[in-house]
Amino acid sequence: MDLSIIGTGHVGLVSGVCFADMGHRVVCIDNDKDKIQLLNAGKATIFEPGLPEMLAANRDRLTFSTDMADATASAEAIFVAVGTPARENGRSDLSYVTEAVSRLAPHLKAGQVVAMMSTVPVGTSRLVREIIDTNVPAGVDPKEVYVASNPEFLREGRAVYDRLHPTRIVVGVDDERAAEILKRAFDGLEAPFYVTNCPTAEITKYASNAFLATKISFINEIARLCELVGADVTEVSHYMGDDPRIGRQFLQAGLGYGGSCFPKDTKALDQIAFSQGHNFTLLKAVIDVNNMQRVRFVHKIASALGDDLKGKTIALLGISFKPDTDDVREAPSIEIISRLLDARARIRAYDPVAMPKVRGLFPTVTFCEDAYEAAAGSDVVAVITDWPEFKDLDMKRLTSVMAGRVLVDGRNIFDPKAVAASGLTYHGVGR
Ligand code: UDX
Repeated sequence: MDLSIIGTGHVGLVSGVCFADMGHRVVCIDNDKDKIQLLNAGKATIFEPGLPEMLAANRDRLTFSTDMADATASAEAIFVAVGTPARENGRSDLSYVTEAVSRLAPHLKAGQVVAMMSTVPVGTSRLVREIIDTNVPAGVDPKEVYVASNPEFLREGRAVYDRLHPTRIVVGVDDERAAEILKRAFDGLEAPFYVTNCPTAEITKYASNAFLATKISFINEIARLCELVGADVTEVSHYMGDDPRIGRQFLQAGLGYGGSCFPKDTKALDQIAFSQGHNFTLLKAVIDVNNMQRVRFVHKIASALGDDLKGKTIALLGISFKPDTDDVREAPSIEIISRLLDARARIRAYDPVAMPKVRGLFPTVTFCEDAYEAAAGSDVVAVITDWPEFKDLDMKRLTSVMAGRVLVDGRNIFDPKAVAASGLTYHGVGR
């Protein structure tokens, strides 16, 4: 079938390319001319494993355009996947959504469904409905144009896999005919297909992300307690996770969650609750714990160096908010670097892919070619991102190039005994 996607960011581009791979003809729209030009030249504009190959393999089913009229030319469903950044107060900025739908509406035809794929506050589908009702072309009955909510659950770095192997597909609709169209769009994917109303679909996305964030903050609090009583949180989470009611995933203590979703969505959900007169105490604590995790880490580095960071050289391994992505949005590294620089420390940093994203932000940081170069002459090596390549570092070689003898492992990737055996003092998170 024919589909279109508005917005070629992470979610939009991956979804468009995957829909094409599933056999659909897909039009991807973006108002950024440069992006569209690159995509038309067959170049993926985001870092996502597997995407360039899939883009190349499905070029004949993909069209990239800046013209909104192309979105509605033949598509049965139009997915809106534009950004919803957080405003200062934590609320979602819906201006990209309202602008995109306002530009789309005058081109809509009877029988088309407009599905919100962006993570949007409860009630946004009603707002979208209003924009469509007042802007559809003369002669089109607004009731014949459907509005739906279709939250996605893609992880960065695994987005292509997640798109093609979803754990569930949730669609909120205002008309059964929209559900029928969307069911065909996802036909072939082996996942439960749930049809509900729009507010339920919208809340499901926030609740899922907030719950995962809660697991992370919970284990980070347990980690703090482990440090105080001499326990090892990596073992605790392992033993807890064997209980299927708890599960192993998202119980890794570390520097807390970053990225484009959890920080934004937890704050937005808190604001949604507040706007309904509900004080979401638990969620506030989750956010606070996450913020504190970065501060505690800087204290940990400082206390390992006699509480004085001035003039000390810190080697930071990892900048992206997690492995397999160059994304640095809300990455713990950003705040950690800022705090270390404020304390007048010198920083040598290395990340396999994310360095170009932060070079401009931190002109005084020395960016290095690999972990050993970063460690050269450093007083302490600090692991910020759990990139797999760091786990295989030669500890003896690392120790030999360092000036000091301290390793602070913000992601608990190393075996403390092996690190100690190479002559370094090990500090993990919660162990
Ligand atoms: C997340 C959700 O997983 C996805 O379903 C949603 O659509 C978007 O947000 P993503 O932001 O790509 O995906 O990253 P994810 O792999 O979930 O990790 C989020 C953050 O939590 C990372 O900073 C990661 O380092 C951290 N994390 C994750 C932990 O600190 N501990 C864990 O046990 C798991």
